Amino acid sequence: MTRVVATQTLPWGALDDLANRVELDVVSETGAPDPEVLRGRVAEAEGLLCLLTDRIDTALLDAAPALRVISTVSVGVDHIDVHTARARAIPVGHTPGVLAETTADLAFALLLAAARRVAEGDRLVRAGDWRPERVWAPDMLVGPDVHGATLGLIGLGAIARAVARRARGFGMRVIAWNRTPRAVEGVECHPFETVLEGSDFLSVHVARTAETTGLIAAAELARMPRHATLINTARGGIVDEDALAAALEAGHLAGAALDVFDEEPMAPDHPLLAAPGTTLTPHIGSASRATRGRMIALAIENLEAGLRGDPLPHAVTD
Ligand code: GLV
Repeated sequence: MTRVVATQTLPWGALDDLANRVELDVVSETGAPDPEVLRGRVAEAEGLLCLLTDRIDTALLDAAPALRVISTVSVGVDHIDVHTARARAIPVGHTPGVLAETTADLAFALLLAAARRVAEGDRLVRAGDWRPERVWAPDMLVGPDVHGATLGLIGLGAIARAVARRARGFGMRVIAWNRTPRAVEGVECHPFETVLEGSDFLSVHVARTAETTGLIAAAELARMPRHATLINTARGGIVDEDALAAALEAGHLAGAALDVFDEEPMAPDHPLLAAPGTTLTPHIGSASRATRGRMIALAIENLEAGLRGDPLPHAVTD
């Protein structure tokens, strides 16, 4: 029987059917396995089903000489050494498309939450700071309007386009930068700097690659208007977090609403935890029950296609 390693168990009995068709070794029942433990289990694996929390690096690939396919339950593949996998003719599958609308919902939820200071209001109420002498005040927790504001998109892939549709429904103007300009109805394409300078809200939607790591650092943040809010549901590391925290502390930026971080979970002393104007969530962009189910199903389809030697329905091509 074909040997498959799943790095960890998946919810909703999602691996049950697969376990009837292959010899399945589930490395961890309690979240991401220790890398060394994982390396020790892949010697005979022909298929590998992983998550974005697993590092599929050269050391792991060296330990898995029989590997014929890697399938990740994620659209992002920055945790996989795709270059080495390609050099070894191991196809890599991922889950584009199925999570665009759900992730766009979170990006827009973060935009609204940051503008209207939802998380801050929640914290204030729970802390017992909503006091009789300040039940309602004209300047209490005021923020910018969303309608009539300009949303800038960095990247114009499926998630960004889904965010643009939401923004237009909220009466926003939408501008965007993409590496290769593309025509999208209701979206004006501009150079990178113009989008930085012209956005009241700036939402990041590029994959993390060597090219996009640090794409938005101190110099780029300095170009943004002081009243602007940055939203990132793409990947940590695209935005320089120290520079962002410093910009927020210095009042060079009004807010940041972030779902992704360079290191996850972030360290307890991470500067963004103390920076003003932040709304932070724990990498939940695609976290609707239906979408997570579709991502898992697609990852299993990719895996089984690779094991059969067929083209993957969604192979990483870059
Ligand atoms: C989530 O971040 C994903 O890459 O699917």
